[in-house]
Amino acid sequence: MRPALESSSSTEGIAENFNLLRRELDRYVIGHESLKEALILGLIAREHIYIEGPPGIAKTMLAELVSASANLDFYFYQFHRDTRLAELIGDMVIQRERDGENTELIVQSIRKGGVLTAELCVLDDISRSPGEALNVLLRILNERRFMNESIPLLTAIATSNPTADDYYNEPLDPANLDRFTIQIRSDGLIQENQWDKVKAVIDLYADTQFSDRIEPEPILNREIFDTAYRELHRVRVPEAVKRGLIDLLNRLVNQYKLDNTNSLITDRAFLVKGIKVMKAKALLEGRNTVVPEDLHILAFMTTFRVPEEIHLNMGDLIVETLRRIGE
Ligand SMILES: Nc1ncnc2c1ncn2[C@@H]1O[C@H](COP(=O)(O)OP(=O)(O)O)[C@@H](O)[C@H]1O
Ligand SMILES: [Mg+2]
Repeated sequence: MRPALESSSSTEGIAENFNLLRRELDRYVIGHESLKEALILGLIAREHIYIEGPPGIAKTMLAELVSASANLDFYFYQFHRDTRLAELIGDMVIQRERDGENTELIVQSIRKGGVLTAELCVLDDISRSPGEALNVLLRILNERRFMNESIPLLTAIATSNPTADDYYNEPLDPANLDRFTIQIRSDGLIQENQWDKVKAVIDLYADTQFSDRIEPEPILNREIFDTAYRELHRVRVPEAVKRGLIDLLNRLVNQYKLDNTNSLITDRAFLVKGIKVMKAKALLEGRNTVVPEDLHILAFMTTFRVPEEIHLNMGDLIVETLRRIGE
């Protein structure tokens, strides 16, 4: 077993640890570069991640690999159309209690578990669940509190099929999707015409025993996550980056006419969470300063927040911003 590197307060140490995780993901899953990077940035920044794509493109596999390698208290839940909230947050306990002399009471309480006690959770096929359970769950994820107590959750990774494909699926409404800072869509290697990677997957499975191939290793640990999060707050954000962010948001709103009727460009998502994810990107590259090119991570946030044609154009829009701010 490869041991995790000694955690150090240096930004290089953090980068090295999370790059080990990246290599572990690369060992088992071919391609999906953006998805892998987005997952790691979400872990570092302690933000929730939503992955959407058709069945069989390794969404669950990546989420499970991340969980096994992260080495945190972990909860996996497979959604189904009868999912009830109680299943997600622990066990219902029903007890008889005596009240004074004669009266017997039936008392119902929750023995906390699931998302209430985990540090990392995978919410697999989340759009299969009925709205009521989901709304409460997503509020818990967002607030990281339940019944006035904070919960230890760092990151939730949700997977989902495109909602039109599946009778039982219900699309998550935009306000619910906004709880997931990081949003990624993939159609898989074949549909994306990535034929060299298709060949690599074929090679992988042609040469390996299918059943005993996966043995993910505990690459990280809680101390590494805590060190990274402490360092995250020390990462500097220069004025050029701030100007770039404002330029981009300004053009999205005024030139591309994105507003509350067609998009979800909220102050919280882009001014608070966006900065955090840019800082995570700096750490992942061993820097303690954000650089203007880090604005590219905003494309991990726009997937379901802006119209698709704008999202697909984010790379160019950001390059244009970098040019305008002279970087
Ligand atoms: N890019 C890939 N690299 C390696 N294996 C892959 C890849 N895409 C699909 N697979 C294989 O197909 C399976 C897809 O399963 P799964 O993760 O359950 O997909 P999903 O959750 O997207 O429906 C994986 O377990 C893996 O064996
Ligand atoms: Mg799956």
